Amino acid sequence: MGARRTAVVTGAAQGIGLAIVRRLAREGARVLAMDRNAERLDAAVRALAGESLDVVAAPADVCDRASVVAALADVGRLEAIVTAAGIYDDAAFLDLTEEAFRRMLEVNVIGTFIAAQEAARRMSSGGRIVTISSRGALGGTRFAHYVASKAAVIGLTRAMAMELRAAGIAVNSVAPGFTDTPMTRSAPPEMFAAWEKLEPSGKAASPDEIANAVAFLAAPTTTFITGQTLFVDGGKSLGGLTI
Ligand SMILES: NC(=O)c1ccc[n+]([C@@H]2O[C@H](COP(=O)([O-])OP(=O)(O)OC[C@H]3O[C@@H](n4cnc5c(N)ncnc54)[C@H](O)[C@@H]3O)[C@@H](O)[C@H]2O)c1
Repeated sequence: MGARRTAVVTGAAQGIGLAIVRRLAREGARVLAMDRNAERLDAAVRALAGESLDVVAAPADVCDRASVVAALADVGRLEAIVTAAGIYDDAAFLDLTEEAFRRMLEVNVIGTFIAAQEAARRMSSGGRIVTISSRGALGGTRFAHYVASKAAVIGLTRAMAMELRAAGIAVNSVAPGFTDTPMTRSAPPEMFAAWEKLEPSGKAASPDEIANAVAFLAAPTTTFITGQTLFVDGGKSLGGLTI
């Protein structure tokens, strides 16, 4: 095994994925940063290279297997992948369309499947897969398609963990709570503020707080943990009103 581990991060151009790229690279990994937005990805990777981190841009759409395979063409062996590429939009259940539902499943579920499968095929000496689910997998209003997609990611994680354990690949999921990223900042400011008020701490997580948990599950020193979902949500998933 070479001194430097190679890790792929999808959804790497901004937000949670970008924070994960920086964290894994700072820990000494060579990181292939994958995103479908090639321009934004290039700018992000250039900035990281300026910090002397070993990060390579690997533009690809995780829903398009051929583009993922092409982006991984020069990779001999992989040690880890984090599948952070995902989309979100909201719609009341009674207004939700099949088109929006299918698009959500396509990116969040099929995209996770394709990227994780292509990575696992290159983990010839074992490895780590960390998927990104969401606290939203437990339920919520105005985003049934997102809830369904993120619950599916948890199921996929458990199934992959069982099938890949013989190959020495641990598969776990991180389920972030409300996090301050371009995804959530694309909502009107008053909506962002209203969401923050629903958090037990009264504020959104930072992408670095999510990356910290991902780094733990992606580390070669983390052993004997597989098929688990770690909620990084400030305790919101505990639920319950308290006095
Ligand atoms: N921000 C939150 O509050 C929150 C909470 C829970 C879970 N998550 C999950 O964390 C992940 C990252 O979220 P974020 O807030 O950083 O989002 P973001 O929108 O800020 O960034 C997502 C990145 O993924 C990329 N992407 C989207 N579809 C892609 C595809 N098909 N192929 C390749 N790249 C693609 C986008 O170009 C973008 O750079 C997502 O899976 C999201 O569902 C986010």
